[in-house]
Amino acid sequence: MIWRHLGRLIRPLIRWGSLVALTVFSLAACSLVEIEDAPLTTFEPAGPFAERIDAVFWQVFWIAVVIFVVVEGGILLIVLLFRDREGRKEPRQIHGNNKLEITWTIIPALILTVIAVPTIQGVFDLTECGDDAMPVEIIGHQWWFEYRYPDHGIESASVLAMPIDREVCAYMTSADVLHNYWVPHLMGKRYLVPGQETTLRLQADEPAEYWGHCAEFCGLSHSLMRARVISMTQADFDGWVAAQQQYAVPPAPDTPAETGLKVFQEQGCTQCHTVDYGPDYQGTNLVADEFFNGPNLTHFASRSVFAGAILPREGQSWSDGLREWLANPPKVKPGSFMPNLDLTHQEIEDLIAWLDTLK
Ligand code: CUA
Repeated sequence: MIWRHLGRLIRPLIRWGSLVALTVFSLAACSLVEIEDAPLTTFEPAGPFAERIDAVFWQVFWIAVVIFVVVEGGILLIVLLFRDREGRKEPRQIHGNNKLEITWTIIPALILTVIAVPTIQGVFDLTECGDDAMPVEIIGHQWWFEYRYPDHGIESASVLAMPIDREVCAYMTSADVLHNYWVPHLMGKRYLVPGQETTLRLQADEPAEYWGHCAEFCGLSHSLMRARVISMTQADFDGWVAAQQQYAVPPAPDTPAETGLKVFQEQGCTQCHTVDYGPDYQGTNLVADEFFNGPNLTHFASRSVFAGAILPREGQSWSDGLREWLANPPKVKPGSFMPNLDLTHQEIEDLIAWLDTLK
């Protein structure tokens, strides 16, 4: 007896309690994500192509809001007005209504048409690169992005530099598996497909640094395959290009940097990594395989991030990031093609001294 009473008391408590808890948890999740902490937000377009996508999103969103209010409001109204009340007769029973059914088929069809026009137009406009766009080749690797500038004869990794107010046409492919290039502030996503070429338009309005991420599961360290885009004024970009076109400068004799270069050569790093000291350099041949390569390190120290744009970590110094990476790459990035070479503490320090010369 007492259990039945207790059950009657507790059941609604559990029902309403869990509903309230669920709502609170959902809302808490929203408030935890501050926009500054969300570098991959699509709600802060920073260039014309991202703005175009954003505009379509809000157009569809507000149409959906109006439909939601009308439909839900209508349901509430009907539930309240026609609810069962003391002494009310049973209403007339109806089966089927052609006029109504045709109406509620035509209205959604019209709404879909209204949404489809800007969407399809946008899809086509955002697919074809402009005629005077600056070409950049993006090659996906497990797990980092490589950038080649065919007009300037330079290569970079992890960081894409681009001038503001100028369209970049990315010609993309992959050296291994499917990847997907996504820098939400600048544009939507696009696949990188092995053996095929896809294009992506990118453009930024202001000088800034944007975050990107591989958006297709591509193996063990997919979640660690990030990208960084740095947009700069045309003058700064020209300066950057000029610096990247220089050969690397060989380290001075009898310095830790020279020892570091020897470690680099003796450990077989040149199998994958290129450091271009120019045609006059009288050392080991430092040109790696063209396609199945690791990042070109000629101007390694000029980049803000490395190792697929995951190092250095937030608050970590550049050298500490390198120490962590060189000590055991597969520990930082599981499955990494860069093996653990069991370098000694001294070898790591010498390598860092050498890498710092690659401005
Ligand atoms: Cu590359 Cu995911």
